[in-house]
Amino acid sequence: MRKNLVKLVFSILGIMIFSLILFSFADGGKGKPWDIPAKYKKMKNPTTANAENLKIGKQLYDKHCASCHGKKGLGDGVKGKKLDTEMPDITTKTYKSQADGVKYYQSFIGRDDMPNFEKKIPDEEDRWFIINYMDKF
Ligand code: HEC
Repeated sequence: MRKNLVKLVFSILGIMIFSLILFSFADGGKGKPWDIPAKYKKMKNPTTANAENLKIGKQLYDKHCASCHGKKGLGDGVKGKKLDTEMPDITTKTYKSQADGVKYYQSFIGRDDMPNFEKKIPDEEDRWFIINYMDKF
């Protein structure tokens, strides 16, 4: 009787530990959700993508972002691979379908390994041109 009870307790413990490990892996891949302040959430992209401003967006993206996010946004940039934080894929529907202001906050305010670009890219229009360009990936 006692042996059975011990077996049962260990099986339950085993299942619990296994699930915990499983969950931590499943969660680790996609990164934690972003906490976007209301002020940013409400922002609307004042620009419309066109050939001319997509060109500017590409130049700025290649200069400031590609080293980590990769030329095509897959997250395979040389610098990005060296970070502790896993690089997100910004070519996905999940990324693109987010509100303008969410993309803006993530791109220029940043957090942790994602640098702040407010000083390096001071022009509002330039910022939206980069966002337009990334939406084409
Ligand atoms: C030093 C490497 C690095 C550079 C340079 C960089 N990023 Fe990032 N970026 C990251 C990392 C790491 C994350 C994930 C951060 C997190 O989830 O905490 C990220 C996340 C993002 C996200 C959120 C994507 C998502 O779905 O989670 C956007 C948008 C983004 N970056 C845009 C940009 C733009 C635009 C530039 C250039 C102006 C840029 N990044 C430059 C490292 C970088």
